[in-house]
Amino acid sequence: MDFLELAKNRYSERRFEQTPVEQEKLDRILEAGRISPTARNYQPQRFYIIRSEDAKAKVREATRFHYNAPLSILVCYDLNEVWKKPEDRNFAEYNSGEQDASISATHMMFAAWEIGVHSVWVRDFDSKRMAEVFGLPENIIPAVLLPMGYPQKDSEPNKWHFSKKPIEDFVKEL
Ligand SMILES: Cc1cc2nc3c(=O)[nH]c(=O)nc-3n(C[C@H](O)[C@H](O)[C@H](O)COP(=O)(O)O)c2cc1C
Repeated sequence: MDFLELAKNRYSERRFEQTPVEQEKLDRILEAGRISPTARNYQPQRFYIIRSEDAKAKVREATRFHYNAPLSILVCYDLNEVWKKPEDRNFAEYNSGEQDASISATHMMFAAWEIGVHSVWVRDFDSKRMAEVFGLPENIIPAVLLPMGYPQKDSEPNKWHFSKKPIEDFVKEL
């Protein structure tokens, strides 16, 4: 599929069938996250699979935006492996973790869509709470939750999907 066509068609899925996502499809999705670009190629991204009943119950404790997905990937970064830039005085706390994890999540979101697995990007959770419910080590920071699965038959994009600003609002030639 043409990339721009795929990017335009993709929408946030919030209505999932309970049909499990096949392991080979999940492996393909994770592979797209594995090979994503990262700052200095440090590769701090970490993927936690949520599909057991126990894990699903825990994610429900951490966010209401779980959408009862049969599968979710919690995309995190390892704070001990991110690129830091201490000499940048304007961004004293800068590290590449959120960006690295977000690029991985984006790769996985599109790789999933290409094979018919829909997802939604979720950031409305407290990262400390999310880490706590899963007992993650202190250096592992949750960045993105990707609930995913097959869409319900009557699923369709919501109105936000069609409400995109015109290109002039984004681009300025310097
Ligand atoms: C950084 C980020 C955070 C988001 N957090 C949530 C969320 O917590 N819950 C949710 O339902 N959707 C969330 N979304 C999905 C957006 O609402 C959605 O992408 C946007 O409305 C455009 O719709 P579309 O993805 O269908 O084109 C998030 C998206 C991004 C990029």
